[in-house]
Amino acid sequence: MSNHLDTLLQEQRLFEPSQSFRQQANFSDPSIYDRASENPEEYWAEQATYLDWFEPYESVCEWDPPHAKWFVNGKLNAAYNCVDRHVRKGKKNKVAIFWEGEPGDSRAITYGMLQKEVDVAARMLQSLGVKKGDRVTIYLPMIPELPISLLACAKIGAVHSVVFGGFSAKALRERILDADSKVLITADAGYRRGKPIPLKANADEAVVDTPIEKVLVVERFGKDAGIEMKENRDIYWAELAAKVSREPLAAEPMDAEDILYLLYTSGTTGKPKGIVHTTGGYLVGANTSLRSVFDLKDDDVFFCTADIGWVTGHTYIVYGPLSAGSTVVMYEGSPDYPGRDRFWDICEKYGATILYTAPTSIRMFMKWGPEYVKQHDLSSLRLLGSVGEPINPEAWMWYHEHIGQGRCPIVDTWWQTETGCAMIAPLPGLVATKPGSATKPLPGIFADVVDEEGQPVEPGNGGYLVIRKPWPSMLRTVWGDDERFRNTYFGKFEGVYLPGDGAHKDKDGYIWILGRIDDVINVSGHRIGTAEVESAMVSHPSVAEAAVIGRSHEIKGQAITAFVTLREGVESSEDLVAELKQHVVEKIGAMARPEEIIFTAELPKTRSAKIMRRLLRDIAEGRVLGDTTTLADPSVVDELKSRYKESD
Ligand code: PRX
Repeated sequence: MSNHLDTLLQEQRLFEPSQSFRQQANFSDPSIYDRASENPEEYWAEQATYLDWFEPYESVCEWDPPHAKWFVNGKLNAAYNCVDRHVRKGKKNKVAIFWEGEPGDSRAITYGMLQKEVDVAARMLQSLGVKKGDRVTIYLPMIPELPISLLACAKIGAVHSVVFGGFSAKALRERILDADSKVLITADAGYRRGKPIPLKANADEAVVDTPIEKVLVVERFGKDAGIEMKENRDIYWAELAAKVSREPLAAEPMDAEDILYLLYTSGTTGKPKGIVHTTGGYLVGANTSLRSVFDLKDDDVFFCTADIGWVTGHTYIVYGPLSAGSTVVMYEGSPDYPGRDRFWDICEKYGATILYTAPTSIRMFMKWGPEYVKQHDLSSLRLLGSVGEPINPEAWMWYHEHIGQGRCPIVDTWWQTETGCAMIAPLPGLVATKPGSATKPLPGIFADVVDEEGQPVEPGNGGYLVIRKPWPSMLRTVWGDDERFRNTYFGKFEGVYLPGDGAHKDKDGYIWILGRIDDVINVSGHRIGTAEVESAMVSHPSVAEAAVIGRSHEIKGQAITAFVTLREGVESSEDLVAELKQHVVEKIGAMARPEEIIFTAELPKTRSAKIMRRLLRDIAEGRVLGDTTTLADPSVVDELKSRYKESD
């Protein structure tokens, strides 16, 4: 982190919004910042008018720290706002989703078509016994049935819990049990570089001895997936769709504070947290950020490269752009399949005007070189976004020059699963950008950098990132564990939200996010708890103890290094390394596969038996070691250093 900070602090470049962009921007009056900070409720009430409400709310916000209610007693439906109302208002034939399959198949789904498909899916869920408030777990590849399933749940008031298709059977099972879902929606298999990802096989393993009664299976891969269907439990999507009524379905009026979805994310303990988002506030936040940060207009084509398995896909493929009646591009597969120009091919094919991707992808494109970009006409692009991890200035500049061709503003958006939508990001028509800085809190967002006592740091200093006041799309609690919600997010500073990131505030008041301050690693924009990987490791019979850290990595941002002590009598070997890596993949998923495993007779611990992770990071990143005087047995460090060199 210190190298990263040094680079950032030397960054002097400033990019003012162009005159032409400024003139056409949705948010072009700088007084919006002051107005929103003087009267946030008025600001959010104004934003709420962009949604259709079945019944008006009585008050904008009730704040009983750490619990907030927004748009109290208002009634609305998220699917109605994302689909039906656009059909009613003349957008029946407008494309809602341009879907591009990895093998090259594609679909253009209009709002009219989407409405029909959502209603059929909603009726399918009803026929499986799903009712308002029930949880539905969704484990699908990036195919149209994924957003359709989300919207179908929303339409009938069921709570969706999407589990990213890269998670293992065990991880899926854990999330099904925690959410207590009765229905699972999955597919036979998903495509990844032409090969099948065995989703149904994982699902079969996951659902044993869980409350799951019915498994709805989309046929994506076909016969080659070689799946088995269990009688009375499994049913094909198409088969059930043919049985339900085609009549339009009325949207369930939901209270603004009814739960819209759960989404699991990693924290400092081994158990993932089910983040709870509610209907009204979340939708207002998502919708507002599209108009403000992304300057979304009616004719935009919004290409967000995230998977809907993560919050970025929830907010910026489904609920944000669709609530705004926009057109989104959704791509199923890998950016290098069949060629390294796949994203650029898609941008050109659909005339994408806004592209939203992650620094890890940008660094990969840099490594591949600009020739893949040059093969395509990207003149339709007018705005670029970045999300998921700090963007290093070199990647920012490459994005600016090669993808944005010097013409597109870049919005670096800081946010989290918990925040629901972008929180710190430039308004592209108003704020000059600096490569590597997410710039300023958005209007109505009270983010700041504070010291250990919770006092704002002077410009030019670093500290904890905090958010002082509630915002509409904030998480309401952790599913089934309000205590954890209180402790994790409000335990340090009373009534103030602690995201868990470190940040620096520069002389102009710009915020530079430095990365996590807790035991959470960010691998290619995926959040992974060190404790999760450690508990996966120690569940292997050969492992006595494990300590996992994130070390900096050129492409991934961070990579996982595991320091492992083996049980008595177990010999280290190359085979064991491979086996342990695979074991973690099976427990969590491929994104948690350790980059390297270092065997050591002992782990460095303080005299109070705490593992010295900072020291392990220093070793993994080859830095000169700091103070090791608190170490119980300093010789452990020398051994580790030599082991680490051996593994290079
Ligand atoms: O550390 C921050 C980093 O990603 C974390 C949130 O991860 P997740 O909940 O998976 O959501 C990712 C997509 C919103 C944050 O705590 N992060 C996210 N965006 C940025 C970022 N770090 C720096 N700059 C960003 N723009």
